[in-house]
Amino acid sequence: MVRVPARLAESPTMPASETPAGSAHAKAILIGEHAAVYGHPAIALPITPLRTVAEVHRSPGPLRLNSAGRSLAVSELPGRFASVGVAATTALEFFGLPPADLEIAVRSGIPPQAGLGASAAAANAIVEAVRSYAGLALDEADRFELVQAAERVAHGNPSGIDAYAARALEPFLFAAGVASPLPLGAPVRFVVADTGVRASTDEAVTGVRQLVDTDPDHGSALLARLGELTREAAGNLEHGRLSDFGKRLSIAQEILTELGVGHPAIDRLVTAAESAGAAGAKLTGAGRGGCVIAVTGDADQAQQVQTAMTAAGAVAVWIVTAGAT
Ligand code: PMV
Repeated sequence: MVRVPARLAESPTMPASETPAGSAHAKAILIGEHAAVYGHPAIALPITPLRTVAEVHRSPGPLRLNSAGRSLAVSELPGRFASVGVAATTALEFFGLPPADLEIAVRSGIPPQAGLGASAAAANAIVEAVRSYAGLALDEADRFELVQAAERVAHGNPSGIDAYAARALEPFLFAAGVASPLPLGAPVRFVVADTGVRASTDEAVTGVRQLVDTDPDHGSALLARLGELTREAAGNLEHGRLSDFGKRLSIAQEILTELGVGHPAIDRLVTAAESAGAAGAKLTGAGRGGCVIAVTGDADQAQQVQTAMTAAGAVAVWIVTAGAT
């Protein structure tokens, strides 16, 4: 079950017609972000109601992208859309199609630069729309690589967790490029709250890289500790030990802050969630802004945490339940 605020409730739906189209969804990283870039494990949760849809239409001239009603030639795209352009051109090239006489329309229901995997969802949706237009099959390994080509433009050095999560339907553990399903011993309610602060994943990942390069022993120890916490957190989830799981999330938040990806707006939402009874809370995704994820107990407590995070300045809040209810 996911509750979304009214203004985001209208996530785009797939067109009913024969228009070649693709769609993918948001994700939240529960624990292990940044460490995942260095081969340590991380856990991700798909957020399927927040979606991006792409459609391919015939249109004479150079390849164009249309977002929010604005159509631009791929060569004229501003930097923040560069990865989406790469998704389109790389997918067309893969299927032997020229980058011309087409317009790809992208409608996103995922807030950008908020740690929810908007760029990977857009790339996945575009790759699937182009595949559908080409009328050819695409195996999962090739699909993943096409999305990763776009993610390299958005992230610099993506672990691949976002590319995978945008199509996954269940929580999973991701380690060194391999995803395994993570069965939950008990249902878990998460509250995901957006600080409203927009931050670049590329810059956050580069910042962590600089810290590791400057002080390799300390930096590597912090990342290894995140990896260890993630493995322990996976065990907690499998056995339904939500209080222990929450504590590990809060410890991870301290380490992420030490890695330089915190923000005062994140701290405000984490404190609000914990004061309202959450078992733990931390940033999710690249940090320096974006979203905070909190672990809660029953529906009433989730509601209280949602109210507290809204009062502390969250601009949007979603309650996401994973596992059987
Ligand atoms: O903020 P997002 O949704 O782009 O997530 C990035 C996750 C990182 O671990 C920081 C980077 C990666 O590629 O794993």
